[in-house]
Order: sequence, then C-alpha cells, then structure tokens
Amino acid sequence: MGLYERRVLPRLVHFVCGREPATRLRREMVPLAAGEVLELGFGSGLNLPHYDAARVTRVYALEPSEAMWELAAPAVRSSRVPVDCRLGSAQEIPLASRSVDSVLVTFTLCTVPDAPAALREAARVLRPGGRLVFCEHGAAPDPGVRRWQRRIDPLWTRLAGGCHLDREIPALVAASGFRIESLAARYLPGWKVASYFYQGTAVCS
Ligand SMILES: C[S@@+](CC[C@H](N)C(=O)[O-])C[C@H]1O[C@@H](n2cnc3c(N)ncnc32)[C@H](O)[C@@H]1O
Repeated sequence: MGLYERRVLPRLVHFVCGREPATRLRREMVPLAAGEVLELGFGSGLNLPHYDAARVTRVYALEPSEAMWELAAPAVRSSRVPVDCRLGSAQEIPLASRSVDSVLVTFTLCTVPDAPAALREAARVLRPGGRLVFCEHGAAPDPGVRRWQRRIDPLWTRLAGGCHLDREIPALVAASGFRIESLAARYLPGWKVASYFYQGTAVCS
C-alpha cells in the first residue's frame, strides 16, 4: 500500500464524509438504528454522535482499515454509546448469526469489493425483526449522468480507494435477503456523478 492509500486517502475520506450534505443524511438515518447495532465500514466514526443514546445499547464497529481506526480513536473515546471495535471486513462479519438488532451502513457499499456478500452477511447477523439502515450514493436515474458514472468509474475507483459510482443500491439490498421498507433517493448538492443518494430501511425477507 502506497503513501497515498495510507496517509492521504483516509484523511480525504474523513474530510469529505464529514461535510454538511453527508452530515445531514447521518442526522436523518443514524437515529433509526436501535438496540445492539452493527456498523459496517465504521470509517473515522462520524456516525457516533448521531446515535440515539437512549435507544442504542452497543455499537459493534467493523472496519478493515487500520488507518481509519487511527482517525476514529477520538470519536470512539468521546462516544456516548459503548463501542466494540472490530478489525475486519463486512464480507465476513465476525459476529454470530441473529446477534444484532440493527445494521447500519453509510457511504460504504460503494467501496466493499463484494457488496452482495456484505449484505448477505448483514442479513445473517440480524435478529428476526431486525433492521438494515442504509445511506449510500449510487447509480443516478438520468441517462446522461449515468453515462458519466460508467465512463469515470475505472479511474475513480483507483483514486477513491475502491469506491464505485454506479452501484444499484436498492437492487443490491433487495437481492441479498432483504425487503425494502422505506426508500428515498435524491441528488444532494455537489458533483452529480457522485451525489445521487439512496437512503432507506429494510428487513429480512
Ligand atoms: C467512504 S468511507 C465511509 C466510512 C463511514 N461509513 C462513514 O459513513 O463515514 C468507506 C469505508 O468503507 C471501508 N471498507 C472498505 N472495504 C470494506 C469492507 N470489505 N468491509 C467493511 N468496510 C470496508 C473503508 O475502509 C472506509 O472506511
């Protein structure tokens, strides 16, 4: 791994993910998680201040990047909810089946190499009646924007740590053992190619 991936990219991700459009989505979606929560792709811990401390008993934070864990340390220290940090991939979640009440995934399904595997794992670890809460950018509805997403994706993926611009988020969720309960999609301010966001909840089907 080069200097860019180790030093520059994690800080860039932390900066971009900490900006207002993303924070607005966090404020809307993170409080929907309740009970014992598993967060996939914990990153630098930007969701922690948005959990409803009265409803969340513990957050299992799963993240494969040691560089992101370094950046997450202050957020974990000052968290109002207990955080159980796990180094690992969403593609092989190190938790027992039917062991959590909510799975939260924000701005991460674009980057996980095998997103369907991660979602199947999320379905496995959810208790009956548990909920997936997701908030992700992905494929835009406009053909022109979509064309640019496809064109730029190979270069973007290399620069942005494996992030893909054109993943069909609702279709991926629905094909991986979930029934979508609520879904909204819209452009947020910014570069349209990377600013079409899907936010929703799903239960195991
Ligand atoms: C854009 S960041 C988002 C971080 C955080 N979820 C947030 O909302 O700020 C994407 C995160 O996905 C993580 N990631 C990449 N591959 C992953 C995998 N296989 N399993 C879990 N997380 C992964 C990256 O290390 C990075 O921290």
